Amino acid sequence: MRHLSVPSAQTQHWLEFCRSEKWLAEHTGVSTLDDGNKAIPLNDSAPADGDAVWMGLAMIILEAKAKTPSHWTEHLDPELYLLHKEDWPKAYETQGDVLIVKLEDSIWDAAETMADAMLTQLPSVRLVCADLGVQGDFRVRNLHPLASRDGTVDTRTRIKENGYLLWVDPSKVYFSARLSNERIETLATAKRLSERLNRGIVVADPYAGVGPSMGALLGEPGLLDGYHAGDLNPDAVDLLSENLTHLAQKRKDVNGDVAPLLHPSTVVCSDATTWALDESMKGSCDLLLVNLPHDSIEHLPHVLPLLRRNQTSVLRGWAIVERAQEEECKRLIEDAIIQAGGRTESLGLHEVKGFSASKSFVCFEAWIELAE
Ligand SMILES: C[S@@+](CC[C@H](N)C(=O)[O-])C[C@H]1O[C@@H](n2cnc3c(N)ncnc32)[C@H](O)[C@@H]1O
Repeated sequence: MRHLSVPSAQTQHWLEFCRSEKWLAEHTGVSTLDDGNKAIPLNDSAPADGDAVWMGLAMIILEAKAKTPSHWTEHLDPELYLLHKEDWPKAYETQGDVLIVKLEDSIWDAAETMADAMLTQLPSVRLVCADLGVQGDFRVRNLHPLASRDGTVDTRTRIKENGYLLWVDPSKVYFSARLSNERIETLATAKRLSERLNRGIVVADPYAGVGPSMGALLGEPGLLDGYHAGDLNPDAVDLLSENLTHLAQKRKDVNGDVAPLLHPSTVVCSDATTWALDESMKGSCDLLLVNLPHDSIEHLPHVLPLLRRNQTSVLRGWAIVERAQEEECKRLIEDAIIQAGGRTESLGLHEVKGFSASKSFVCFEAWIELAE
C-alpha cells in the first residue's frame, strides 16, 4: 500500500489534509519508519508519487498496518452493529473488574456477543453483567452475568478510590463510584472539625455500606481517634469489616509511624435508628454521617443523639428531595436539631447531582452544638 513519508512534526498537518481530500486509506493507521518519519496510508484516489501536491515528500510502499479498534463496537460483526445501530449501550460502569451495563430490550438477543466484544476491547474487565435495576430494602442491583473472561461469575471485586482499596460486590451491596468527590469533601469537613476541637475525632457512619467514607477518613494521619461504623445489610457489614481491618492496618500517625489503636472501633450490623439506645454509643461521636438518601431526614431524630453534647459537632448527610422543596428540607433538618436539644451554627445544603426531572440528590452539612 502507498504511504506518504512525512517528518514526525508534520504528521497532524498531512493527516488532516489527506483526510479532508478523502485520500486516507481506511482500516489502517499511521506507522513509524526507521528514520523517525511517519508513514500515512493513502487510498487509490490520492495523486501519484511526484505530484506537486506532495511538496517533494517521498512516497513508499508498505504493508498496511492493522488499525487497533478503539471502541468495543468495532469488534462486532458490521451487519449486527448496523442492525441495532441506535440501541447499543452508550455508557457502562465498572467496579473493579466487573462491568455493569444497562440494555435496551432490542439488544437482549445480541447481549452475549456484545459482552464478548467488551471483553475483547477491555483487558481489565473479567465479568460483564446486565443491570436489571435495583431491588430489595438495601437497594442492591439485580445483575445478570453475560460473559466472563475466566468462567467465574462472582461479582465480588476490589476497587481503588482516592488512593485506598475497597472490596465491593455490586450484586450484594450498594456502592457508587460517582460519589467519590463526596468522600473528599467529608474528609475536608472532618479535618476542619478536628482543627476546631484541637484533637482527633470520633466518627459515626451508621449507613456505611462497604465503607468508602471510612476509607477517606482512616487514610488521614492523626485525624480519627475512633469510629462506629455499620449497616443493616449483613453482606455490606462483611465487606465493611474486611475493608476496615485493611485500612486500620495501614494507618500512620502524623510522624509516619504506626498509628495508635482506634477507640472505639465498633462495627455493627443493626438498624441505625437503634444505635443511640446503646449507652456506649450515645453521645460518643463528633461527626455523624447520614447516607440513606430516601430516608435521611426521617432518621435524624434517631441518630442525632449519637453526637457529643456541649461541644461543636458536625452532621453531614445526603438526601433526595423535590427540587422546589430544598428550603423545606433545611427547615426539617433544623427542626430535628432543635428537637435533639441543639443549636445550629451553620447549615448548608447543595445539589450534588440530578436525580430525576423533579428531584435532586443533595448534600447537607450542619455545624451544631447539642446542649446537655
Ligand atoms: C445509599 S447507601 C450508602 C452506603 C455508603 N455510605 C456509600 O456511600 O457507599 C445506604 C446504606 O444504608 C444501608 N441501610 C439501609 N437501611 C438501614 C438502616 N435502617 N440502618 C442501617 N443501615 C441501613 C443500606 O444497606 C446501604 O448500604
